[in-house]
Amino acid sequence: MSVLVTGGAGFIGSNFVLDWLAASDELVINLDKLTYAGNTENLQSLQGDPRHVFVPGDFGDSALVANLLAKHQPRAVINFAAESHVDRSIHGPEDFIQTNIVGTFHLLEAVRAYWGGLQDSARQDFRLLHVSTDEVYGSLAKDDPAFTETHRYEPNSPYSASKAASDHLVRAYHHTYGLPVLTTNCSNNYGPYHFPEKLIPLMIVNALAGKPLPVYGDGQQIRDWLYVKDHCSAIRRVLEAGRVGEVYNIGGWNEKPNLEIVHTVCALLDELRARTDGKSYREQITYVTDRPGHDRRYAIDASKIERELGWKPAETFETGIRKTVLWYLDNQSWVANVQSGAYREWVEKNYAGRAA
Ligand code: NAD
Ligand code: TYD
Repeated sequence: MSVLVTGGAGFIGSNFVLDWLAASDELVINLDKLTYAGNTENLQSLQGDPRHVFVPGDFGDSALVANLLAKHQPRAVINFAAESHVDRSIHGPEDFIQTNIVGTFHLLEAVRAYWGGLQDSARQDFRLLHVSTDEVYGSLAKDDPAFTETHRYEPNSPYSASKAASDHLVRAYHHTYGLPVLTTNCSNNYGPYHFPEKLIPLMIVNALAGKPLPVYGDGQQIRDWLYVKDHCSAIRRVLEAGRVGEVYNIGGWNEKPNLEIVHTVCALLDELRARTDGKSYREQITYVTDRPGHDRRYAIDASKIERELGWKPAETFETGIRKTVLWYLDNQSWVANVQSGAYREWVEKNYAGRAA
């Protein structure tokens, strides 16, 4: 038996592959295009492991995907591949349309053809699990109830609009062709191997480098945060027992304003790797121009997955963020290796124009 994972060299995908193979011997075919966000170093511990087949390539390449499906006959496809960063989608939306919408469409077509040719029981057992985000639901006011699975779609950024479109395609392939799909919409993840363009790893990396900690706007935007390994366990559970055609929201019951997140990171670094001048890392916080169209609040109601599938996060924010900061302190060479010229160009592009 095997599963095909797309985007398994990215942040969540690589954590998923590592956790999968820590828990089972089932073969993982890992298809990843290795964009700036894909990093084979995340998978270094699997080098030479016959349970992991890494294939560099595009999930939108139907011929390649058809070949992989025919060759390995996976019982499931888990789709992580995407462009995932809101700020990048603002600077350059086209990649998001191509990858998240057109790429997902091509994947669906290849999977539909494969699934259509399976024999009875394999056909019945097959699943396509599409990994999506809470951002498709738009922005909540302070006292609004958290997003449930039936919340209307109201995406506000090119990123969330492209993910919303991919969710709709996945839904349509179930409704029209009967493709056995599952969709998960998860809140903000954090943890090991998180590329330092997103809030938490950027703050850790900048703090340690003595650089400014750029807080957008007033820093009171709220996100729900989930430790990445809890997201991975939720996906495994949905794959195992989720009802075909259903959507499951995944979250950590853990809403926090950005500024509180930055303060927590500073406090942990003050404790674990104090600045040589004895001052707090908080001194490095700089308020910068807000993100255009910045969603004010996301909150996930994760009661369906808890009620139906018995899933709950294992980490609290306090335990998860401590593990995360420790991981970055222990993996400085990983951090150095991802800060390539292209990374520095991105930082320049995103932050140079934001007046302090
Ligand atoms: P990421 O940007 O770290 O990784 C994406 C991976 O996809 C990279 O390895 C990249 O090389 C690969 N990829 C991109 N285009 C590809 C293509 N055409 N073919 C094959 N591979 C391709 O993203 P992430 O944070 O790991 O997110 C993974 C998925 O989870 C995405 O679909 C994202 O929308 C969703 N998600 C992310 C979060 C979060 O907080 N990061 C939360 C909820 C949902
Ligand atoms: P991010 O990690 O990019 O995730 P998302 O936009 O998908 O939620 O950003 C999380 C929050 O942190 C978001 O409200 C934007 C904010 N933010 C900053 O304040 N400063 C930064 O440098 C970054 C990257 C994000």
